[in-house]
Amino acid sequence: SSLYDDECDYLFKMVLIGDSAVGKSNLLSRFTKDEFRLDSKPTIGVEFAYRNIKFGDKMAKAQIWDTAGQERFRAITSSYYRGALGAMVVYDITRWQTFENVKKWLHELREYGNRDMVIVLVGNKSDLVDSRVVNAADGQSFAQLEDLCFMETSAKDNLNVEDAFLHMITKIF
Ligand code: GTP
Ligand code: MG
Repeated sequence: SSLYDDECDYLFKMVLIGDSAVGKSNLLSRFTKDEFRLDSKPTIGVEFAYRNIKFGDKMAKAQIWDTAGQERFRAITSSYYRGALGAMVVYDITRWQTFENVKKWLHELREYGNRDMVIVLVGNKSDLVDSRVVNAADGQSFAQLEDLCFMETSAKDNLNVEDAFLHMITKIF
């Protein structure tokens, strides 16, 4: 299921999903460019970015797709998921509805995605301690129920971002 590429041994696709403004695009820019923007605009359609990851003497290139959380800006669903080996489902720990909607995103994943896709549930914005409404334990127990990996991140403070992506990438291989 991996494609051959000139500079690296594997090229693989993974996708980011979750409600609008949970921080998907900032998690991606933090992971691929070490950049964060407080004033980032909502994504329109689909964007993607790459990052090379070394595994022993092998090189893997992650192609990470990022789409709009807003329904009206979303690109066609089936092509978005096609060929993806991993998915990161993101919610915002300061907005309960975004956690509630994870069920909806998982439903879409199961409808369009590959059956044995690696899925990581991510509670983002862990830096906003005073406005937290979703406890880590809530995320953890839901993830356990759904048989997903779970992590809390902060794209802003660069907490666990690397770990969340690398965890998924390691599980893929
Ligand atoms: P859509 O493209 O509309 O689906 O949104 P998105 O999920 O890509 O969200 P985006 O990355 O654009 O971030 C939305 C807002 O949340 C921006 O103002 C970001 O600066 C902010 N944000 C993202 N991650 C964090 C974080 O870890 N902590 C804090 N405090 N703010 C964050
Ligand atoms: Mg976005």
